[in-house]
Amino acid sequence: MKQKRQKSLGLPGYFALSAAIGLGTGTFAHAQDTDPNTAVAERGHYLAIAADCAACHTAPGSSKAFAGGYGIASPLGSIYSTNITPSKEYGIGNYTEKEFAHALREGIRRDGAHLYPAMPYTSYTKLTDDDIHALYVYFMTSVKPVESSPQKTELPFPYNIRASMAIWNALFLDDTRFKPDPSKSVEVNRGHYLSYALAHCDTCHTPRNAMMAEKGSSPLAGASLSSWYAPNVTSDPVSGIGGWSNDDLFRYLKTGDVPGKAQAGGPMAEAIEHSFQYLSDADIRAMVAYIKQVPAISDSKDKAPRESYGKISDRESVYRALPASRISRGEYLFSGECAACHRPTGQGSPDGYYPQLFHNTALGAPIADNLITTILMGVRREVNGHTTYMPGFGPGSYVDSLSDQDIADISNYVEQRFGNPNVKVTPDDVKLIRSGGPKPLIAQLGAFTVPAMIGAALILAVAILFFIRLSRKAKA
Ligand code: HEC
Ligand code: HEC
Ligand code: HEC
Repeated sequence: MKQKRQKSLGLPGYFALSAAIGLGTGTFAHAQDTDPNTAVAERGHYLAIAADCAACHTAPGSSKAFAGGYGIASPLGSIYSTNITPSKEYGIGNYTEKEFAHALREGIRRDGAHLYPAMPYTSYTKLTDDDIHALYVYFMTSVKPVESSPQKTELPFPYNIRASMAIWNALFLDDTRFKPDPSKSVEVNRGHYLSYALAHCDTCHTPRNAMMAEKGSSPLAGASLSSWYAPNVTSDPVSGIGGWSNDDLFRYLKTGDVPGKAQAGGPMAEAIEHSFQYLSDADIRAMVAYIKQVPAISDSKDKAPRESYGKISDRESVYRALPASRISRGEYLFSGECAACHRPTGQGSPDGYYPQLFHNTALGAPIADNLITTILMGVRREVNGHTTYMPGFGPGSYVDSLSDQDIADISNYVEQRFGNPNVKVTPDDVKLIRSGGPKPLIAQLGAFTVPAMIGAALILAVAILFFIRLSRKAKA
């Protein structure tokens, strides 16, 4: 009884977009066209997919590709993406290639104003001139102009002072192009470029410092994205994914499902759905080659790999024999809410559509964030025309029926039986993650980083002014 509901929200706009620009037919893979400009535009199209421009610049449910209006929610109000179609009036039709490069790599608009870092210029700053050119040609010649303006971003004072970003940029924007490392293979360098300049794995998987800049000392060591947690994906065999084979990682990036290891939900599912699944096998192999040699970062608290925890349960027959009063509340709820799909044994379905819960990173992880968030929001991923769907049990979802206590009880049961027995979940943990809310997922990432970056910049600005005054006084 596979339950494949049609999606009610998400990004149907992307599929309309796919149709509009011929994506999904693999056209970009055939760049042997005679017209050299077409070939450049096709390369630009591929780069735009690898960099996931459409995910943010197309409003959910809209058929107007790249017309903007996607609201990245922040506690201070939404930051809306802009129209980047070649419309001269509403889009970027008047941008020269130099101005386009400036926006992508330095975060500065044509009119000189600073962009908020909801636009990932901190990653795109690594893009080569050639790739900027290809993207520019693609946007100017192949994207259809849309003659309308999306909703404007209006953050309250003082966050509307875009100039504050100049201070943050001066401190933390490493405005340099990608430099290949001659000691590494061509493939590893290609993978590095794809993973950092385009796919920006680091924006989610690298922890940030108090000023919300990525910690250069611990690349890909794992970071919280409010409700979801992007795990350590360094080559450490215990804390990271050193124990995964190259084929495992390849399959994960292409499909989001590696049986007996991990499934991709939340923002990772979005990245796979909108971007990675369309990349060529050679490019994904290059990313795998790069990621697998990222220096190991280990956490001494981790005792065994995430995917190694848990085993099959023999409780199936118990349910028939025992009255509900004889099993724990967590197990009782599990048998009612989860076992129909994941089986009382935790084995999932034979075809793997419903995954097994033991040897599953969401349950073997040292923190329960991804387990709790999965229960609240479910999983949705469309890959290769197939939908993978688990209903969420949180607010606004299909079955909003479980309390914080219920979810804590289920979590503790599944952690004990199938996962990391050291992980304990309290109703307050669930409440905290619930308050992150089931917002669009890219929005969750922006929600905390952007205001924090601006806030940090403003605090710095005040501090600098204060010191200037102090030193003036000292001189006087
Ligand atoms: C994670 C979301 C996100 C992604 C991915 C993204 N953008 Fe943006 N972009 C934004 C937001 C939000 C703004 C508006 C920011 C603001 O108002 O300060 C923006 C602004 C811009 C602007 C300035 C346009 C203007 O208003 O004058 C350009 C150009 C641009 N993006 C191009 C791109 C391109 C090309 C890509 C892919 C290579 C891309 N963006 C990917 C979120 C994104
Ligand atoms: C928008 C944020 C985001 C981006 C970009 C992103 N990831 Fe992830 N990634 C996550 C989250 C969140 C998870 C946890 C998903 C889950 O368990 O359902 C995850 C999970 C993973 C996992 C599985 C780890 C495990 O233990 O289950 C791997 C491997 C991974 N990501 C690699 C990458 C690579 C490589 C890139 C870039 C090519 C990348 N990710 C880009 C957010 C992101
Ligand atoms: C209607 C069927 C169904 C029900 C009910 C269900 N699940 Fe799932 N579950 C799925 C599917 C489908 C996936 C995703 C498989 C994939 O990504 O390939 C999944 C994935 C998961 C994952 C891995 C998520 C990740 O991102 O790493 C966990 C953990 C999980 N379920 C736990 C639960 C728990 C606990 C319950 C009960 C509260 C539950 N599921 C109820 C179908 C279901």
